[in-house]
Amino acid sequence: MKCINCNTIYEYNPFLLLCPKCRNLLEIKIENPSVSWSTWRRRHTGVWRYREALPVPSSVKPITLGEGGTPLVPVEDTRVYIKFEGSNPTGSFKDRGMTIGITIAKNLGTQVVIAASTGNTASSMAAYAARAGLRAVVVLPEKNISEGKLLQTVLHGAYIVRIRGSFDKAMYYTLEVVERLGKLVYPLNSFNPIRLEGQKTVAYEIVDQLGYVPDYVIVPVGNAGNIAAIWKGFKELYEWGLADKLPKMVGVQAEGASPLATAWSRGLEEPVWFEEPETIASAIRIGKPVNWRRAFIAVRESRGLFTTVGDSEILESQKIIARRVGLGVEPSSAAAFAGFLKLVDNRTIDRSSRVVVIATGHALKDPGSMKLHSASTIEVYSLDELARLLVGIAGG
Ligand SMILES: Cc1ncc(COP(=O)(O)O)c(C=O)c1O
Ligand SMILES: [Zn+2]
Repeated sequence: MKCINCNTIYEYNPFLLLCPKCRNLLEIKIENPSVSWSTWRRRHTGVWRYREALPVPSSVKPITLGEGGTPLVPVEDTRVYIKFEGSNPTGSFKDRGMTIGITIAKNLGTQVVIAASTGNTASSMAAYAARAGLRAVVVLPEKNISEGKLLQTVLHGAYIVRIRGSFDKAMYYTLEVVERLGKLVYPLNSFNPIRLEGQKTVAYEIVDQLGYVPDYVIVPVGNAGNIAAIWKGFKELYEWGLADKLPKMVGVQAEGASPLATAWSRGLEEPVWFEEPETIASAIRIGKPVNWRRAFIAVRESRGLFTTVGDSEILESQKIIARRVGLGVEPSSAAAFAGFLKLVDNRTIDRSSRVVVIATGHALKDPGSMKLHSASTIEVYSLDELARLLVGIAGG
């Protein structure tokens, strides 16, 4: 393990979450596993296809629900693809990290796992904990958890703790309580680098599916773990000779919750905290991302950028993806596509570029956002009326 700030190296220890020297986050370094694409491609698709690159000993049995192996869907006849993470078992990319996190927790003999969440981590952890026979405790902000995510977490039987305050406070409580209680509870937020090891596999899968590395990978950024995980995945492929180039990483935040993008636009080295983040995209309504340092490193190293989009652009993008591409994505995922449209529009990204947009979660996660779209509901009172209506629709 390596500190992302002072670069000190430590022996691998799944309980070590912060650098003992400088209290920054740690990253897991994987030695070159000396594998080839052909070895990997002989196996089922999914996170565990890339087992040699994961920090789980080969003797450990994975706790899995078949996560990963998600569709890469082209956008009309462009060189743009949407990686649809909504088709993971609980409907978001979190399952990629959770299969690793819960496998490790179970193997350590932990009984209780904990995570602060805006909803998707909660529902994913609840499902995987159920699978493993562990107790899950989710710490949620008092407001704005979408109905789909909350009800999934209820369904899977997690303990639901609601605190008075925002996600950032829920995260602070979780970090503190884990420090206080030691090995009694195992944390599965993305400050735990084990989660990110699962999430990095989306990078492997993109190269696996496309057969090349795209020019840009566009990611919605909240707590900022995922963009760092994906960048780590690409870098590993490159270092191990499994990819011949690296993509530029683009992080998209909602205007009302843009601590990183705001700092980026002002040329600052540190985030501009948002005390009261606001956006319709509740999964990225985060004012103090714990992984901010990792995300800055990812964007800087890859020569990418951060940008912002407004809530109306997010809803418009959700509609375009749903009605032109055919995928239902939640608002945070739509934010990434909105960012892409904006960057093409202002010529930051060339129209002929090869682009992958990460659609992190399914539209069913957030029924409230779907209610905001115009419905074509027509009442009919007779068979004749229905027939006339259909003739009209058929005639365009
Ligand atoms: C659907 C969705 N998109 C994006 C994100 C942001 O990911 P990260 O917190 O790793 O930046 C989340 C996190 O909860 C999410 O649930
Ligand atoms: Zn350090």
